[in-house]
Amino acid sequence: MTISRLSSVLCALALGQSVLAAPQLSRRATTSLDAWLATETTVSLNGILNNIGASGAYAQSASAGIVIASPSTSSPDYYYTWTRDSALTLKVLIDLFRNGDLALQTIIEEYVNAQAHLQTVSNPSGDLSNGAGLAEPKFNVDTTAFTGSWGRPQRDGPALRAIALIDFGNWLLDNGYSSYAVSNIWPIVRNDLSYVSQYWSQSGFDLWEEVNSMSFFTVANQHRALVEGSTFAGRVGASCSWCDSQAPQILCYLQTFWTGSYINANTGGGRSGKDANTVLASINTFDPQATCDDVTFQPCSPRALANHKVYTDSFRSVYSLDSGIAEGVAVAVGRYPEDSYYNGNPWFLTTLAAAEQLYDAIYQWNKIGSITITSTSLAFFKDVYSSAAVGTYASGSTAFTAIISAVKTYADGYVSIVQTHALTNGSLSEQFDKSAGTELSARDLTWSYAALLTANNRRNGIVPPSWGAASANSVPSSCSTGSATGTYSTPTGTSWPSTLTSGTAGTTTTSATTTTSVSKTTTTTTSATSCTTPTSVAVTFDEIATTTYGENVYISGSISQLGSWDTSKAIALSASEYTSSDNLWFVTISLPAGTTFQYKYIRKESSGSIVWESDPNRSYTVPSGCGVSTATESDTWR
Ligand SMILES: *[C@@H]1O[C@H](CO)[C@@H](O)[C@H](O)[C@H]1NC(C)=O
Ligand SMILES: *[C@@H]1O[C@H](CO)[C@@H](O)[C@H](O)[C@H]1NC(C)=O
Repeated sequence: MTISRLSSVLCALALGQSVLAAPQLSRRATTSLDAWLATETTVSLNGILNNIGASGAYAQSASAGIVIASPSTSSPDYYYTWTRDSALTLKVLIDLFRNGDLALQTIIEEYVNAQAHLQTVSNPSGDLSNGAGLAEPKFNVDTTAFTGSWGRPQRDGPALRAIALIDFGNWLLDNGYSSYAVSNIWPIVRNDLSYVSQYWSQSGFDLWEEVNSMSFFTVANQHRALVEGSTFAGRVGASCSWCDSQAPQILCYLQTFWTGSYINANTGGGRSGKDANTVLASINTFDPQATCDDVTFQPCSPRALANHKVYTDSFRSVYSLDSGIAEGVAVAVGRYPEDSYYNGNPWFLTTLAAAEQLYDAIYQWNKIGSITITSTSLAFFKDVYSSAAVGTYASGSTAFTAIISAVKTYADGYVSIVQTHALTNGSLSEQFDKSAGTELSARDLTWSYAALLTANNRRNGIVPPSWGAASANSVPSSCSTGSATGTYSTPTGTSWPSTLTSGTAGTTTTSATTTTSVSKTTTTTTSATSCTTPTSVAVTFDEIATTTYGENVYISGSISQLGSWDTSKAIALSASEYTSSDNLWFVTISLPAGTTFQYKYIRKESSGSIVWESDPNRSYTVPSGCGVSTATESDTWR
């Protein structure tokens, strides 16, 4: 086994891909979950792009970069743009962009420019002069103010927008485009951070736009925004003293939502407080560098796992779809058990969130190398592993392996429920009927598609960048619900380079494009003893693809060495190192140094039929550095 083989195996192990438990059979039971996700991820990305103006198929009357919540214009009318939904959606697109889908550049820039404008639009919540207008929850699709009555203000919007923009801003800083981070991103982010610091301790409407109180989802995201906002400020040569003074206070307040057995979503509203709000907060503040930290409610923390059980169990007796299903087996879940909107039903995005928290936890346990069960989380673990007991179980132990496998099966069960109730063409609406299972409410809901993509990525061990949770988890000994004042100013930077390329090409006049595919790590071996520039490089393509007997994996691409997209000339990969725990296909191909090309993997079935990976095309540039003679590209089937 070569170093690159070994590292790809270690990588697969670290990503939790070694334990492929049988997915739960869906009611339709025609397609495996893996195969369904391979096509559903394409449907979902297209579903999002269709809902963004001005070129999205369903959003052509929306301004450029404006994300509509759904194409539905009546019963219900969601043909508006919400700051929250838009920011959560763009976070997904920005993470795809960061991982190599550079074709998303224009949409991301148009979103940034649209937000720069929206921040200046006076609305019923207020205007930019004292920041109050930043918490207006929704606007008309032409970016004018929506003046009807509504649950306003909603204070999560500025925090979520800052989180999405900082993600893009950090990419700009890392890839040689610092001036754009300074001129185009920071002014918008600074307004949002100022808003959060000034208003976080005042009540507002929750993410479901119903309860006017303090809300866990809002507060958790506000904490995250100020923590990474302060770091980002430093990176653009500024500072955020108001972030630094308020973030610890917000973290302190966040602790008050913990009841001792679950997270109470809202301080008002007169309900049980068991609410998807809390699970969504945990996945949105998931930090791949953090441990199972209770203070920041990380997905693998005892508190968040206990809460997952209380939240999901609260629906078992409410929806007839869920009747008779044991605890520890996935069920359809909704916003909160008392919900009466459309008579109260499961939602796609909440059912996916229940899965995503578990995938995040699996990632964290694998990274940490152990699972700790405490008295707080014991009931959660007992549901999936009946012999669970309080203690710490190291990676490699029977208990560790069994729990990872059981939690993966449990998580996959939630996604299989989504598969069962999706339309056959893959469309996801907002809700599905609690008895009949048929789709309900707004069709093609943008947030449903965003939720599908994040859950699928976490399932594959693809995680977002850290936001610094590990060093932002100390709660001050005395806390107050205060405020700090920042600055508000009209964002003006809206021009962008015509093409963004990764690497540091942005600082030079040539554009040596290095694009990376969605699910990959690239390793390059450099010979230390010679310094010639080779004309060709032996590139090894590693592809993790779960196949059944008779299926073979090939690589097809835009250059002649890969058959110029002619599938009859595609290059076969070898399964000689394929095992049940490491579904590795690979091939080494000699390619001209410096060549940039597009490619995809395909499966040829024993019948001869061909299955393509989902879009977008992957892109690769053969290294051309001094002394580089071999390279490895590691991908995962999508
Ligand atoms: C799927 O079909 C529904 C209902 O006919 C339609 O509204 C939706 O746009 C379709 N979705 C896709 C992805 O084609
Ligand atoms: C992938 O490349 C092929 C061949 O150039 C092209 O037809 C197809 O549209 C590309 N797909 C995407 C999503 O760009």
